[in-house]
Amino acid sequence: MRLVLLGPPGAGKGTQAANIVKKYQIPHISTGDIFRKNIKEGTELGVKAKEYIDQGLLVPDDIVVAIVKDRLVEDDCKEGFLLDGFPRTVAQAEALDQELKDLGYNLNNVINIEVDKNELIERAVGRRICKECGATYHIKFNPPSKAGICDVCGGELYQRKDDTEETVNKRIKVYLDQTEPLISYYTDQGIIANINGEQDIDKVFKDIVDVLGSEN
Ligand code: AP5
Ligand code: MG
Ligand code: ZN
Repeated sequence: MRLVLLGPPGAGKGTQAANIVKKYQIPHISTGDIFRKNIKEGTELGVKAKEYIDQGLLVPDDIVVAIVKDRLVEDDCKEGFLLDGFPRTVAQAEALDQELKDLGYNLNNVINIEVDKNELIERAVGRRICKECGATYHIKFNPPSKAGICDVCGGELYQRKDDTEETVNKRIKVYLDQTEPLISYYTDQGIIANINGEQDIDKVFKDIVDVLGSEN
């Protein structure tokens, strides 16, 4: 199963990705997570990406496309994958189509999670992430049983630096300018499913499974 998760910042892509990859046993490829890992490790890529991410801007296409191409040829992607946060521009989508064509694959589904702008800001600003395992929480909508501590591994929770109201507004604007055009790009290809993201996390997942089928 070869999937793309599309949606504005804070729509719930990462949250649903965790459920999807568990059910369908495919690798989760989040370009945002790859950048954050590199920032944490202080790599050259991390230093470069941080300049853009902290401002709520997109990392340049050539950098992102190269990373995803390298990742897609790894062995664990042979049976499928879930791309989360990529592609984010029409140029990235075209590069992905070309790469998949070269590899003899095609995308099965693009899942587009729809959420209203005001809700996005509240979701992103209240988000907390585990330092150790990356599990995602929300102080109001999905709180851990003990404040500040991960239910899964006991790790400490932190807030992303780009999750301030100001930067989230910027990220939403960038999404509308550069990423939203992908909805018509994939509608034209006939592979998009629009999912109402303003429902409980479990109901959103149920709607996604209805699209993908319950077989893995
Ligand atoms: P990235 O990490 O991909 O961030 P994003 O797209 O802005 O999306 P988020 O991760 O913020 O949100 P999400 O949809 O995953 O929501 P989540 O599940 O966490 O990218 C970060 C940056 O990296 C970009 O700004 C850019 O600079 C760079 N970058 C990455 N990819 C790039 C690319 N391809 N090209 C160029 N640059 C790139 O949920 C959010 C919160 O809501 C959580 O607290 C969660 O608990 C809660 N929540 C989730 N679902 C629900 C629900 N149904 N009801 C209530 N609360 C919910
Ligand atoms: Mg995410
Ligand atoms: Zn954890």
